Amino acid sequence: MKSTKNKLPIVALLLLSLISTAQVRSIADFNNGWKFFLGNDSLASNANYNDTKWRSLNLPHDWSIESNFSSSFPATNQGGALPGGIGWYRKTFTVPATSKNKVTRIEFDGVYKNSEVWINGHYLGKRPYGYINFSYDLTPHLNYGKPNVIAVKVDNSLQPDSRWYSGSGIYRDVKLVTTNNVAIAEAGVFIATPIVSKNKATVSIQYNVANTGTQKEIVNLYTDLYDAAGKKIATSKQVVLRTIPVGGYAYADQIQIAAPILWSTAKPYLYKAVTKIERNGQLIDEVKTNFGIRSFRFDAANGFFLNNEPLKIQGVCMHHDLGALGAAYNHAAAKRQLNILKEMGVNAIRFSHNPPAAAILDLCDEMGFLVQVEAFDMWKKKKNKFDYNLFFDEWHARDIQAMVLRDRNHPSVFMWSIGNEIREQFDSTGTTIAKRLVELVKALDTTRPVTCALTENFPEKNFIWKSGALDILGFNYKLYDYADLPNRFPGQSFVATETASALATRGSYDMPSDSNRLWPPDGKTPTVKGNADMSVSAYDHVYAYWGSSHEAAMVAVNKYKYMSGMFVWSGFDFIGEPVPYAWPARSSYYGIVDLAGFPKDVFYLYQSEWTTKPMLHLFPHWNWNKGDTVDVWAYYNNADEVELFLNGKSLGSKSKTTDVLHVKWRVPYEAGIIKAVSKKNGRVVLSKEIKTAASLSKILVTADRTKLKANGKDLSFLTIKLVDKDGNLVPDADRFVDVIVKGAGALAGTDNGFPADTVSLKSSQRKTWKGMALAIVQTNVKKGNITVVVKSAGLKDVIITLETEE
Ligand code: GAL
Repeated sequence: MKSTKNKLPIVALLLLSLISTAQVRSIADFNNGWKFFLGNDSLASNANYNDTKWRSLNLPHDWSIESNFSSSFPATNQGGALPGGIGWYRKTFTVPATSKNKVTRIEFDGVYKNSEVWINGHYLGKRPYGYINFSYDLTPHLNYGKPNVIAVKVDNSLQPDSRWYSGSGIYRDVKLVTTNNVAIAEAGVFIATPIVSKNKATVSIQYNVANTGTQKEIVNLYTDLYDAAGKKIATSKQVVLRTIPVGGYAYADQIQIAAPILWSTAKPYLYKAVTKIERNGQLIDEVKTNFGIRSFRFDAANGFFLNNEPLKIQGVCMHHDLGALGAAYNHAAAKRQLNILKEMGVNAIRFSHNPPAAAILDLCDEMGFLVQVEAFDMWKKKKNKFDYNLFFDEWHARDIQAMVLRDRNHPSVFMWSIGNEIREQFDSTGTTIAKRLVELVKALDTTRPVTCALTENFPEKNFIWKSGALDILGFNYKLYDYADLPNRFPGQSFVATETASALATRGSYDMPSDSNRLWPPDGKTPTVKGNADMSVSAYDHVYAYWGSSHEAAMVAVNKYKYMSGMFVWSGFDFIGEPVPYAWPARSSYYGIVDLAGFPKDVFYLYQSEWTTKPMLHLFPHWNWNKGDTVDVWAYYNNADEVELFLNGKSLGSKSKTTDVLHVKWRVPYEAGIIKAVSKKNGRVVLSKEIKTAASLSKILVTADRTKLKANGKDLSFLTIKLVDKDGNLVPDADRFVDVIVKGAGALAGTDNGFPADTVSLKSSQRKTWKGMALAIVQTNVKKGNITVVVKSAGLKDVIITLETEE
């Protein structure tokens, strides 16, 4: 083959190389055109099985979210009161004849769970862990130029499993990757920046090259680096050709960059590396990798430093569901979540307690979030009967390796966590397993520290710490021990892997606001009796006995320089774990932002401490009863005092302190206007007022985006508010609204953020909660206008038009 090619005239050679440039590697989105069947049919793995009656759908898909909530599902409300079960997916596809001498693999980013895969009736294998990526080589079993069938069985029937809502199905992206026989292996480029300064940076690149051919190959293997504007700035081009033996080989390069622009949370600058393999001057593979140039370190005395500058980790923990969309990954929905968190001042995310969707890490790179990627919520000792404990022995190595290989190029990823509140920390098995897991991680990446989120913080009792394998100690809760940590663990660096576990429903206010209430109780301190309507007061004074108020956690983390920062439990509400209530509560109360994406008041506490743009937030609403005494709070920044006025009369000025991060007045209620004015050196910075709403008069609908992509995936989030004639939110007139979507889109879900609403999140009818609801509209692939009609009995319909474009 080679010798013939060498004899071809130059023009023919050029032509050939042009043709094959286009074909070096194809990475095809494999999400569309699947068939789905909810239930089990063991014959469905056969190539010639008739699936014409099955439902047609596009991935990512989560069948659990499509169900009604019920207390009878074995996942219980801890798992979101939604079903698991067995489901089958099939896709028929054609591979071009030109792929015949190539290598084709299918890559699944996550299937919940116990997936088994067949290609044309051949069994490819199983993957128990539902939160991990995996792939199969399809090459030997493909029909070229003819139809092929891939069949996937998903078994999420054994419950209870995860301690939160997992979702069920092929809920993350699927790709079909085709390469030449000699190509960069899967996850075979590893880019790191071992030396970083303002003047120069060293970019190191490790290559894992596959050669599935029958002879060794001599190639030119190199990487070009591009800046964010797309300008080529450096290359590793080798003069000496490299030999790739049959089976493959690993190589490494280093490239120097002068005056690099550093990646940071404030300015997430991304470079692009384009790795190429050429054989006889002809391009045979090309892999593009975004990367950032940044350095970081943890200092035992002074906390975290990014690019040599101290940076407090202002983080939140996030589970993976996207509210009404369930676990099915959607880029627009993930981006909205991250935008909301950015707005709040968040600079770091702990994806708890499992590896997240790959695509959300791209967003974190682009938007400037530091990320802790966590492998497991349990090892061999279970938290629930059917959780990963069943698979740990056989699968932990492959799963944790897959995690590191997939995610180690992301500049956002700055820490690995081998587990969360692992039971083995209490006995010696914790030491052996921790060592083993850290070894597995470090074999693939030594550029990031490894931590574990620990509950046990006495060294003699903490067997995971005893392993000596952890670089950073992550502690969940127990603020009262922060002061003593450096004595207990001299020379160690710390991060608060979880804080708060405070509880609230948006817009709920129980007086008085200044008594902290524990719920579930610890048996010693004042507890709360549940509210009949399953609400929880949002004054940041209700929290689980193992946690604290948000404010107390903030004060404690701020106080100790050696605490590198924190990850609040939790950024958003998530489906499942509805502490403190039982059914019909089915989603969490922990979020700073509710399940619909509407901020609770405490959002503004974080914003006041974590952002520098002047802000002032006043609450609660101003619709109370005559004779009520109402606690009025404000969060603010960039000012030294806040003055409160009721109907124009001053109720005095107050200032926050280092220990109390809000200001509060106890006000005898009087209808009218409550107004806060923040001042700095006597000059007004901002003012905010809330008016007593008159009777409900209309619906107000605002879309976060009105120009969408006609790609079958893009979303617009519509906020629905019940208001009086002047547009003031009416907080106590909750009622049903109907959402009708016509034209080039469909309704993807509705929500109101209330954790005990048992109406399916797919329903087109939703009762508002404290005057608000959300509708999510998804585009079709055909472009056009989308008309959304929002109705409620006795009120005028609201019509919103969204445009979609290719
Ligand atoms: C932590 C746990 C989290 C969540 C939280 C609720 O102990 O790590 O997953 O359950 O408690 O307070």
